Amino acid sequence: MHRILATTRNLFVGTALVLGLAASGAVHSFDDGAEATIDYRQGLMRALGGNVAATAAIVVDGAEFRDNLAIHVRYIVDATRDIPALFPEGSDFGETDALPSIWEDTEKFARLSSENHDAAVALHEAVEGGDDAAIMAGFRNLGQSCRSCHEDFRRRD
Ligand code: HEC
Repeated sequence: MHRILATTRNLFVGTALVLGLAASGAVHSFDDGAEATIDYRQGLMRALGGNVAATAAIVVDGAEFRDNLAIHVRYIVDATRDIPALFPEGSDFGETDALPSIWEDTEKFARLSSENHDAAVALHEAVEGGDDAAIMAGFRNLGQSCRSCHEDFRRRD
């Protein structure tokens, strides 16, 4: 299946090359995997959202799944390690809510990403420590940190 898809894609690119379209940039959606990258990062972001929602249900609403807290927080720690890598140049078109500011202010984007990861690590430490107030504070800080990146770099509906 994957092989067939790749072959079709190569045919497209090959045809475009023959027609001399390659230099125009019109074909980059076929040959640089940007659509797959966008699908992947949106899936990862949704998974972040799911793990944050599950964490909120436990920490804020008291759902009796406290033993699962570490699972959710560990995912958030791992998935936030390098968010800028999910936004390579050329993945700024099509079905994406990524704003052009990501590629204009790469420094700020990287800083907000690393602050987000630090917040996740701090929450993970609080979960390991087991102190409710620290977990709550860590969770609020993490949520705020997700939002501050979205405010600057994600298109609102
Ligand atoms: C450094 C910036 C940044 C950080 C930090 C960040 N996000 Fe995102 N997020 C984005 C951008 C940009 C998009 C839009 C991606 C796209 O549409 O291609 C997005 C999209 C999303 C989406 C929508 C995905 C979809 O279905 O299209 C969700 C949900 C989400 N983020 C949740 C989170 C959560 C939860 C956190 C914190 C744990 C977080 N994000 C941290 C930048 C960030």
